Amino acid sequence: MDDNIYGKYEPVLKAVLDNIIKKIQSYNEQEEAKTGEMAYEHLIYRVKSSESMKEKCCRKGLAPTAKAALFSIHDAIGIRIVCRFIKDIYLNIAYIKSIKGCRVIKEKDYIKNVKANGYRSYHMIVELTEPYEDVKKIKPGHFFAEIQIRTIAMDSWASLEHQMKYKHDIKEPKMIEKELKRCADELAACDVSMQTIRDLINAE
Ligand code: GTP
Ligand code: MG
Repeated sequence: MDDNIYGKYEPVLKAVLDNIIKKIQSYNEQEEAKTGEMAYEHLIYRVKSSESMKEKCCRKGLAPTAKAALFSIHDAIGIRIVCRFIKDIYLNIAYIKSIKGCRVIKEKDYIKNVKANGYRSYHMIVELTEPYEDVKKIKPGHFFAEIQIRTIAMDSWASLEHQMKYKHDIKEPKMIEKELKRCADELAACDVSMQTIRDLINAE
């Protein structure tokens, strides 16, 4: 039906995503070989679908073009790193910052600055320099990716809250919001306890 918003850049975005994912995965393997513990529990990633990207361009008042999708919007490439422990989040952040050709242009620490609804996660927008021509005809080109780093507990909460957000026929939304916030805070307390237990075990 409609044309793909990314046009000829669709395979390029996939290649850029593939390159950074390989680096993050090999970091995990190296950490496991070195310390016996994985840097993260699992990793998910995607190129935002053409449909969602067109919808986002419209929402932001941008014309649905490849240039808007690759340059004005920074999450055509999305990566989520799900860690077991809070401190692992910061190890992964340090690794991302050390990658050659990867420059952090925006960071949001929703772990230290928890969102009012209880959402916790560390977000980074990175600019990746890769050996492909970008939408501004520059080569090596610049591409963007959104990386979210969170614990398993933060991830489970975000996933359930995301599903429930779209239910509009809730009878007592204020009470539900309060309960969701309470669950987020309880999970956060568990993350702190789990980190303490792990530190105690590792100190033995
Ligand atoms: P855009 O929405 O991408 O324009 O940017 P923003 O500046 O609002 O980005 P932010 O970093 O706050 O959020 C980006 C992504 O984080 C979202 O697309 C979600 O995946 C996730 N996220 C942010 N806030 C919440 C939240 O309250 N609940 C859940 N479940 N996910 C959230
Ligand atoms: Mg987003």
